[in-house]
Amino acid sequence: MDKLSRIGVLTGGGDCPGLNAVIRAVTKSAISKYGMEVVGFLDGFKGLVENSYIHLDLKTISGIGYRGGTILGSSNRDDPFNFLSFKDGQEIFSDQSDRAISHLNDLGLDGLIVIGGDGSLSIADRFHEKGINIVGVPKTIDNDLSATDVTFGFNTAVDTASEALDRLHTTAESHHRVMILEVMGRYAGWIGLHAGISGGAHVILIPEIPYRIESIINKIRQRQWHDKKFSIIVVAEGAKPLGGELVIQKLVPESHDPIRLGGVGNQLAQQIEKLSNIETRVTVLGHLQRGGSPIPYDRILSVRYGVAAVEALVNGDYGTMVSLQGQNIVTVPIHEAIKEQKKVNPKSDMVEAARAIGISFGD
Ligand code: F6P
Repeated sequence: MDKLSRIGVLTGGGDCPGLNAVIRAVTKSAISKYGMEVVGFLDGFKGLVENSYIHLDLKTISGIGYRGGTILGSSNRDDPFNFLSFKDGQEIFSDQSDRAISHLNDLGLDGLIVIGGDGSLSIADRFHEKGINIVGVPKTIDNDLSATDVTFGFNTAVDTASEALDRLHTTAESHHRVMILEVMGRYAGWIGLHAGISGGAHVILIPEIPYRIESIINKIRQRQWHDKKFSIIVVAEGAKPLGGELVIQKLVPESHDPIRLGGVGNQLAQQIEKLSNIETRVTVLGHLQRGGSPIPYDRILSVRYGVAAVEALVNGDYGTMVSLQGQNIVTVPIHEAIKEQKKVNPKSDMVEAARAIGISFGD
């Protein structure tokens, strides 16, 4: 196998805690173990199309392991295969993938590590099909990538949401209110489920289990009969009523997944107040879940993923994504990993355990 001398790395999609820790691990191991040079593209795939990059050395990445965000910048809008540009003030979409590839060639890159979720990894897979030596690293707070037990960033987001629930508990109790916490999770309710169990929610609403408003009201009333005058509800942004629709906040046409959700919490609050007569307040946790320092679990996972991604490139294991399976980091074909989203199984033992301690899923 030819020795690799220069590799690239980029962070694509919505950011998440641990990106910097992966960039640091990639750079450190590539330089220290293999004597490679490392180039970081700016703002995800946009940097690849526009040839904007920085050289990553041991100084550039010093002290970033515990910092949230990404020193490279990220974007969940730019798809080189359907790239937005403007001509005479008009929006045009065009395939700029060959332009991106010519930049990789001009820079003499032997391989590219793409740190991203399903959108970025499907773009990465298309570059792999065009002959680029790609390895993916699974990133998303949503934890919805199949073929890996966990994506980095997820556990930090759960930590943030769980702490928010602890805080909502005390004020809910003081004012005898229903408190709704809207968390992220477009098509998968992992954050809602984990944070809801850990934060002692009474109702958890997730995309995988459509809810009925009557069932939620029943749960609140039951608690009142037992002299519990407050209730805590966690709702994933992608939760919807039985037979109902997603609450869409806006559309971003240039994005790989153009739908941006948000607002289900407010919709629910209005219904609950009307039907139960109990004061109901909403907190939308939003991007607080994506910001801030990664917890130790995610820092460690990020280091393992970053190092494994470099090893995969060195071994010629292209077109793969590094993945945690049980205790081990392995590689899986990217196309397997993006084939379907990993969703909460409504019959899983975690959902059953939640039900057993009285948590309602609104069904
Ligand atoms: O995919 C991660 C995610 O955090 C989703 O849960 C959420 O819907 C989306 O990103 C929000 O992205 P934006 O940065 O465009 O608001």
